[in-house]
Amino acid sequence: MSREPLANWNGTIMPLSEVRVSVLDRGFLFGDAIYEVLRVYCGVPFLESRHLDRLERNLNKLSIRADVSTLASRMRETLDASGISEGTIYIQVTRGEAPRSHAFPDPPAKPNELIWVREYHDHAAELRRVGGKVILIPDLRWKRCDIKSVNLLANCMGAEEARQAGAVEAIYFNDEGWLSEGTHTSLFAVRDGAIITAPLGKNLLPGITRTLVLDLASRSSIPVIEESLHRDQLTGIDELFLTGTTTEIMPIVQADETLIGHGQVGPVVRQLQTAYGNVVAEFCRQNKDS
Ligand code: PDD
Repeated sequence: MSREPLANWNGTIMPLSEVRVSVLDRGFLFGDAIYEVLRVYCGVPFLESRHLDRLERNLNKLSIRADVSTLASRMRETLDASGISEGTIYIQVTRGEAPRSHAFPDPPAKPNELIWVREYHDHAAELRRVGGKVILIPDLRWKRCDIKSVNLLANCMGAEEARQAGAVEAIYFNDEGWLSEGTHTSLFAVRDGAIITAPLGKNLLPGITRTLVLDLASRSSIPVIEESLHRDQLTGIDELFLTGTTTEIMPIVQADETLIGHGQVGPVVRQLQTAYGNVVAEFCRQNKDS
C-alpha cells in the first residue's frame, strides 16, 4: 500500500489530507494558479532546475509574486522528510485568497503555496514496450497553452475521451488539422530517420521532457525538425511517440484507425528510450556518489 503523500502548505509540512484551503482562494474560484510536476528518481528530483525555471517563468507571466528559491528549499525539505525514493512532486501556486472579483487583487493577495510529494508506482513499463493507441480530438483549449495553469478542464475532458476509447492519450488538432500535443504529453513523430515535433508557441506547453528528448536526439546525431505535423500526414510517418514527466517516452502504434509503423514500435523510439534510461541511471549514480 502507498504511504500518504506528504504536503508542504505555505511552509508547514503536514499530511496531504490535512491541508485546508479557503473557498475564496483564486485558484479554487478562477483557476488563477499555476503548477509544476517533477519526477523523483532514487530520492532526487529529476531535471529540477529546468522545472523550477519553467515555474518561475509561469509565475512571471501571471504576475504572481512567489519566491522560487523558497519553494525549491521547501520542496527539498518535504522530499527528505517523506523518505520517498521513487515519486512525484506536485507544486501549485495560486494568486491567493481575496474577495471574488475578476481583476487581480490590489494590493496583491498573499499567494498560497502547495507542494506535495507522493510515491510513484510506474505501471507503464509494458505499454512502453509494446506501444499504445491515441485518439485525435479538436483543441478546445484557450490560446495560452504555453502557461502551465491549473485550468485543465478541456484536458480532463480529452483524457476521459481517450480512456473511454481505450487509448492512452488524446492528441489535439487545431481548426486546420495541425497536431500540437496531447492532453498531458508532448507529441513527436519520426519520418525518414528524423524526429519531428511542433515548434514552441502559445498553442502548446514547452515540455521539460520534450527538451530532454531533443538533447538526446542531437547527442545521438538524430536530425530534429521542429515543425507541426498535419493529421493527414500520419499515414506517411514511420513512428510516433509521446513524452512527459511521468510518461517518459511512450511509443504510439495507432492514431484513431491509422496504424503507425505497421503497428510495431520503431527503432528510433527504442534508441531514445535506451538513452533516457541511461540518463536516469547516470543521474542516480552521480547523486549516490555526491
Ligand atoms: N503534464 N503538454 C501538456 C499539456 C502537459 O500537461 C504536459 C505535462 C506535457 C509534458 O510536459 P513535461 O515533459 O514537462 O512533463 C505536455 C503534467 C505531467 C501533468 O499535468 O501532470
